[in-house]
Amino acid sequence: MVMSIMLAPPPLIFLFMIHGVYSADDEWGVNYSSSSICALKGSIVIINCTYKYPTGYKIVNVFWTKTDGIPPNEEHPDLSKDSEYSQRIQYLGDKHHNCTMRLTDVRQTDSHEYYFRFITDKAKWIGVPGVSLDITDLQVESSGERVTEGHSVTLTCKSRCSLTDRSTFIWFKNTQSLSERTDRNNQLILQSVRREDAGNYSCAVQGHKLTSPHRYLNVIYAPDKPVISINPSGEIMEGDSVNLTCSSESNPPVYNYIWFKVNERSSVGSGQTYSITNINSRHSGWFYCEAQNEVGSQRSAAVSVNVKGMNISLF
Ligand SMILES: *[C@@H]1O[C@H](CO)[C@@H](O)[C@H](O)[C@H]1NC(C)=O
Ligand SMILES: *[C@@H]1O[C@H](CO)[C@@H](O)[C@H](O)[C@H]1NC(C)=O
Ligand SMILES: *[C@@H]1O[C@H](CO)[C@@H](O)[C@H](O)[C@H]1NC(C)=O
Ligand SMILES: *[C@@H]1O[C@H](CO)[C@@H](O)[C@H](O)[C@H]1NC(C)=O
Repeated sequence: MVMSIMLAPPPLIFLFMIHGVYSADDEWGVNYSSSSICALKGSIVIINCTYKYPTGYKIVNVFWTKTDGIPPNEEHPDLSKDSEYSQRIQYLGDKHHNCTMRLTDVRQTDSHEYYFRFITDKAKWIGVPGVSLDITDLQVESSGERVTEGHSVTLTCKSRCSLTDRSTFIWFKNTQSLSERTDRNNQLILQSVRREDAGNYSCAVQGHKLTSPHRYLNVIYAPDKPVISINPSGEIMEGDSVNLTCSSESNPPVYNYIWFKVNERSSVGSGQTYSITNINSRHSGWFYCEAQNEVGSQRSAAVSVNVKGMNISLF
C-alpha cells in the first residue's frame, strides 16, 4: 500500500533535520488490509491495519477518522467520539503496531474513506490514502419483466459494489428458501419455466441477515384448452334460452373468445358466454370456442347442442 507523508507539525521536521533524515517513508506508515471494501448493509466490517513509527517515539493517542483535510491546528475528529459511530466502532488494535478496527451494523451513510490517525509524543501521522468503505444492499434483477412458460429466465442478486468477502448467495421464493439451488455466482437460472415458478423472489448472502426486497416473477402462458359448459344443462326444448360458456386458464387473462359452429364458415359470436334466446331446431349443431390472449390461442372440443322440437309436424 502506498503511504504518503503527512509531516504535520514543525517538531517532526525539526527532528528529522537534526538527524539529517529528510524522508520518513520507511519509518512512518500505515498499511490497510485493502484500499476499498464493499460490505453489506447491516454487516460487520473489520479493517486490518498496521502502523509503524521510528523507535524512540511514544504513542499518545490512536484513533480512526473519516476526515482527511482539516484546518491546521485542528485535530481530526475521532470517530469513537462521534455519536454516529461511538456505539458501533471498536478499536481492536493496540498502541504499538496494530491499528485494526471493527465497525458493526454498517449503514449506507458509512460509505466514506476512513483513515487511521496516530499521535506520538513528538509527531502525528495520518494514513492516507485511507480505506474506502462502500455499503450496499441487495436487489433482485430479472432478465425479463415477464417470462413465457417454457422459456428461461435469469434472476440476479445485485449489489451496488462487488462484495469484498467471498459470498454465497441464497434465494427465496415466497420467503421459502430454495436451498437446493446451486446456481453460479449471484444468479438463479430457471431453465424452461413452469407457471408454478411464478412468485416473489428475494435473495441474500449466506451468513447475513440482509435480504433483498422481493421481486415478482410473472410467468405468462397461452390459454389452456378451453372447456364449454351449457346452461341450463339437460334437454333443450324449442323456445328455451341457452348459454354456452367458454372457460380457460391463462395468464394474462383471455382477452377474446370466439364462437364457431361446425360447418359454418365464419364465427357465430364472441365473448365468454354465447347466448341463444328463443332457440329452435335450426340452432342444433356442434359448437366450439377459441380463447385468445397475448401469448396464443387454443380451441375447445366441440359440444353438441340438440334442440328437441315440440312441433315436429312443422318439418
Ligand atoms: C485480518 O487479519 C486476520 C488475522 O490476521 C485475518 O484472519 C483476516 O482474514 C484479515 N481480514 C482481512 C479483511 O484482511
Ligand atoms: C506495509 O507493507 C509493506 C509491504 O508489505 C511493508 O514493507 C511496510 O513495512 C508495511 N508498513 C507498515 C506500516 O506496516
Ligand atoms: C491485530 O489485532 C487484531 C485483533 O486483535 C488481530 O486479529 C490481528 O491478527 C492483529 N494483526 C496483527 C498483524 O497482529
Ligand atoms: C407477492 O408480493 C405481493 C406484494 O407484496 C403480494 O401482494 C403477493 O401476494 C405476493 N405473492 C405471493 C405468491 O406471495
